[in-house]
Formats: sequence, structure tokens, C-alpha cells
Amino acid sequence: MDHAADIASSPELESAAAALKAGGLIILPTETVYGLAADASDARAVAKVYEAKGRPAFNPLIAHVADVAMARRVARFDDRAERLAARFWPGPLTLVLPVADEGAVCDLARAGLDTVAVRAPAHPLAHALLAAFGGPLVAPSANRSGRPSPTTLADAVEETGAAAALALDGGPCRIGLESTVVALLDEARLLRPGSVTRAEIEAEIGPLSEAEADARRSPGRLARHYAPNLPLRLEVTEPRAGEAWLGFGRDGAEPFNLSREGDLAEAAANLFAYLRAADRSGASGIAVAPIPKTGLGEAINDRLRRAAGFVG
Ligand code: TXA
Ligand code: MG
Repeated sequence: MDHAADIASSPELESAAAALKAGGLIILPTETVYGLAADASDARAVAKVYEAKGRPAFNPLIAHVADVAMARRVARFDDRAERLAARFWPGPLTLVLPVADEGAVCDLARAGLDTVAVRAPAHPLAHALLAAFGGPLVAPSANRSGRPSPTTLADAVEETGAAAALALDGGPCRIGLESTVVALLDEARLLRPGSVTRAEIEAEIGPLSEAEADARRSPGRLARHYAPNLPLRLEVTEPRAGEAWLGFGRDGAEPFNLSREGDLAEAAANLFAYLRAADRSGASGIAVAPIPKTGLGEAINDRLRRAAGFVG
């Protein structure tokens, strides 16, 4: 099925926009992972998102926008923000910026901070819904808090579908890892690595700060995250008997080889779906092969360390 076909005229899209206007939640495909969307200006709807995810209220949400014009109604853009948005939007990059005066994103969605995270997703269905809705939507990954992000409609529905009025099917997510998050407050900082790499960002705006962001400025970095139910071992070259083996490259065995060709983009797209499948496989644990640490590998290794409980 061509998921991009006839999007603008889809009656489902009109139903989704109407459900959002009425304060309901929608399962929304993006190019990174599936999100659980609500009207960013509606504190009651946003409260339902935190509840459905079991997410601590100190961890703020990303406001998704149709384009830069909508983003400017939410956040204050400086030169660095203009440059990054021009280069990477629509796409998998989130900017944390000072909140705009009278911006539409409610306090609860920002966890009371004077900053706001914004991103314009590239998925045609997400873009069409934002345009039809006409305002910002919060959309955290549609998993229960602490679990791997859903990269298929079925996984999203299994995690938080019960709370949603409607689920939009956008097919499997092309990227499979959540957006890169960059804070542009005083210094520019990478808060969450993603498929827009550190090097690509630095090529636009110069060096990112090496200092650790203080916890209040990156509340999402506190908790154990992305975790399967089974114990997870990393950098494993020889799995133990009974372990499900997430290999990488030609030595990895099926069925969970993240990429036979050793392609990081393919490994990223498979990562969360394979963690979920390994979890369900009846194995005693999950072992993951070493994954190169540069480029997109920085984001993959970040998610794996958190999933294994090594950070936070
Ligand atoms: O790819 C994505 O970004 C997906 C799709 C659905 O768009 N969404 C997503 O949202 O990953 P979520 O809520 O799972 O992750 C948002 C991250 C969290 O780590 C949160 O702490 C951080 O962004 N964040 C949001 N607002 C922030 C702020 N004002 N300051 C610092 N970090 C912020
Ligand atoms: Mg998330």
C-alpha cells in the first residue's frame, strides 16, 4: 500500500484532526518512530499523554510543527536555529529554544521550563495532519515510559493504543531512532544523538559544547530508557547459549542480524523492532554485537547503553 497516496484528501486525516480538536489522542507515524499526539495547547489532552505513557511530569514533550512559520509561533529562533531548520527540516532534528511570548505550547507540555522543544517531521502523513490541524502537536514516542520506541503501527497500538481515539498507519518508520535533540540556549549542546549526526550539525553552526548539560536542562536523560524486559548485554562477540543474538555484519546470525551489510542506517531502522522481537522469542537474555561508535553509530550506542541501564 502506498501510504503517501491521497493523504491530503484522506477522511481519516479529517477524523484525526477533529479528534485532536476535541481533546483526544492520536497514534501518529513519523519518519523516526511512532508518536502519541495531542493538541500542545490543551493541558487536559497533554495530561492524558503523560498518563498513557506513565511518564514523569518533569520530562517535557516535543512540539511538532508543520513548518518554520508554525515553529516561530512557539519558540524564539536565533541565527543558529534558522540555519539548522533551513538545512534539516522537515526531518529528524529537534531544537530546544527559548519559549516564545504567548507561545501556544502549554506549561505542562514544557514541564514548566522556559524552553520548548520543536521539530517539523518529514513523514507525509504527520505533515498533512499538522497542516490540517493548524497548530502544534505534542508527540512523544508512543511507548510506555522506559520501553523501546515503537517503529510499527502494531507496536505503537500495543504500547499506548488503548488511550488513542484513532491510529494512523504510516507503515514501518524509515529511520527507526528518535530525532536528534540539540539545545540552542547559551551554548549549543547535543542532548540526544540521532540520525542527524554531531558532525552534520557542527558543519552548520560550529562546535557543540562538550560539557554535560545540567540535568534540569535535559530532563529526559535521567531515566533508564528504551529497555526490553530481558537482560541486555552489549559489545558481545560470542553470545551465551539461550541468548537472542543481535548481530551486526557478516558474522551475525539470523533472525536478528541488525545489518548483514554492516550498514548503520539499516541497523538503526531495525534496532527497536528487533529488541521487541528478541524479547518475545523465549530467549533467556539479549546479547548485542559491537556497533561502530561514529556517525549514526553514536545514536545507536546511546540507545543501547540506556536500554542496558548503563546511563542515568
Ligand atoms: O523522533 C522523535 O523525536 C519522536 C517522534 C514521535 O517525533 N518523539 C520523541 O519524543 O522522541 P519523546 O518525548 O519520546 O522525547 C523527547 C525528548 C526527551 O528526551 C525530552 O526530555 C526532550 O526531548 N525534551 C523535550 N523538551 C525539552 C526541553 N524543553 N529541554 C530539554 N529537553 C527537552
Ligand atoms: Mg521517548
